[in-house]
Amino acid sequence: MKESAIKIENVEFNYGHLKVIDHVSLEIPKGISFGLLGSNGAGKTTSIRLMLGLLKPNKGNIFCLGREPSPANAVNTGYMPQLPSLYNELTVRQNIDFFAHIYGLKNAQQRRKRVDEIIQLVELMPKRDVSVVQLSGGMKQRVSLACAIVHQPPLLFLDEPTVGLDPELRVHFWEYFENLTAAGTTLVISSHTMDDAAHCRQLAFMREGKIIAQGTPAELRAAVGKPDASLEDAFLFFIRHGEVKSNVQ
Ligand SMILES: Nc1ncnc2c1ncn2[C@@H]1O[C@H](COP(=O)(O)OP(=O)(O)OP(=O)(O)O)[C@@H](O)[C@H]1O
Ligand SMILES: [Mg+2]
Repeated sequence: MKESAIKIENVEFNYGHLKVIDHVSLEIPKGISFGLLGSNGAGKTTSIRLMLGLLKPNKGNIFCLGREPSPANAVNTGYMPQLPSLYNELTVRQNIDFFAHIYGLKNAQQRRKRVDEIIQLVELMPKRDVSVVQLSGGMKQRVSLACAIVHQPPLLFLDEPTVGLDPELRVHFWEYFENLTAAGTTLVISSHTMDDAAHCRQLAFMREGKIIAQGTPAELRAAVGKPDASLEDAFLFFIRHGEVKSNVQ
């Protein structure tokens, strides 16, 4: 087993009296793509924000790359929020340049080169000098991804990164994600689509703040007990069968 990038031990988190993360334990090896799948309100975004140190658990411990997560370690992490958090009046290039700068790329020449590389990757060269406010939803999504990865962090949190992308770009993004993990980056991705899930090395299915199943896509499909069960069948199986043991391995 590879060394862990993330360790979550018995974490509980409440919003007021509402328990939204309920005794979650999880270990994510380094250099893989790990998918968090679950219905609306299952706790995916909250889990990601806990792993980033933007929220603090009420109980339990979290370690990311061996340390308690905190916004002060942000240079080691990239975060693409579920809703793009961009400066609408700035251009595509200015937004990415801003994030590159705050994440520590201080050398202007190197930063410009890296910003251009990343604009090419998200296929926004023709829009590079256009204000974000004038972009389509999918284009904003691409700028948001670019801002998260521009500083090449070893740990990347992508909250529903493929929403709103056209099919061609989705394929292109997954090729890029696979290159990142091959180079040692750990990716934590939340999604609703089984297409994304199938690309992940390991998955956790969440419901009502709990992890109801965990394993590789093949292990989760096999747990359904029917030949040719799809990942969608596996997801529905675990949702319908309530809280099943937290790891099928
Ligand atoms: N700021 C907040 N204050 C109070 N409750 C919140 C807050 N943010 C989220 N919640 C609640 O926490 C629970 C988990 O929400 P979360 O956003 O983590 O779900 P999610 O799995 O990301 O859902 P989605 O697929 O819709 O993005 C939900 O019940 C939600 O209503
Ligand atoms: Mg969410």
